[in-house]
Amino acid sequence: MKWDAAENRRCKKRPWRTKRKCVKASQSLARVMNNYLNNQQPLYMNKIVVAIDGYSSCGKSTTAKIVAKELHYAYIDTGAMYRTVTLYFLEHYIDLTNPRKISQALQDIHITFERNSRTQRNEVFLNGLNVEDEIRKMYISNKVSEVSVIPEVRHCLVRQQQKMGKKRGVVMDGRDIGTTVFPDAEVKVFMTADIYTRAKRRQQELLEKGEMVALNEIMENLQKRDLIDSTRKESPLVQAADAKLLDTSYITIDEQVDFVLGMVAAKIFQREFSESDKC
Ligand code: DC
Repeated sequence: MKWDAAENRRCKKRPWRTKRKCVKASQSLARVMNNYLNNQQPLYMNKIVVAIDGYSSCGKSTTAKIVAKELHYAYIDTGAMYRTVTLYFLEHYIDLTNPRKISQALQDIHITFERNSRTQRNEVFLNGLNVEDEIRKMYISNKVSEVSVIPEVRHCLVRQQQKMGKKRGVVMDGRDIGTTVFPDAEVKVFMTADIYTRAKRRQQELLEKGEMVALNEIMENLQKRDLIDSTRKESPLVQAADAKLLDTSYITIDEQVDFVLGMVAAKIFQREFSESDKC
């Protein structure tokens, strides 16, 4: 990936107003970003947190993975963590109305992410067992929102996520990253898309994994999850006041990635400038 200083289309998206300022900013940005992306020098010693929240199947994970790779940051899929807990609860017949049993069960759940060198994917492990494919299945999607409303589950996972991002340098996607997990994230994006586009994307994903599900069943599942996720008491799915909205209905993955990287670049550039302005 290369940042092109001469490309005015990109400049227009930047928050600098006059053309002269815009070009000047863009050249610095290109220099700084290219050095950084080529790993020639650390762009900024203090790494940042990139929070990508929004509805299911808007392209959050795909975007977050690419952004993390470009920045040499860690990528954390928090939805996978809620799915893994759901899998454990189902396998162990945990009564979702019994807080004591839930707290006990949570102590026995150990979630880790490991990079698969063959697929180059970050895969999720439950107590040492790879559950990456299992947690994406429809029976988990049908139950996960019910599990994610449980306060004990949320407290436990939010704590783990905060630990994972303590040193910053992470791209995290989910529902409450910019509002609850990292309200101080330097870059916050909130993704949305129309329900039909989201359902089609989800159907394609499931098909690639060998699961054939009718479009209306997927749409119903997405709508039900949207409702539960955005109306729950504990850290509901809402756009953080300082998050930028990105509608992905009619844009490509490249454009989504560009949008987020543009925000990262602007943030880092702003910091570089304010640092170099100091005596
Ligand atoms: O991103 P996903 O579809 O894999 O997420 C699965 C579910 O997990 C989603 O319906 C809501 C829940 N979730 C959550 O409550 N908070 C998060 N930070 C991430 C996911």
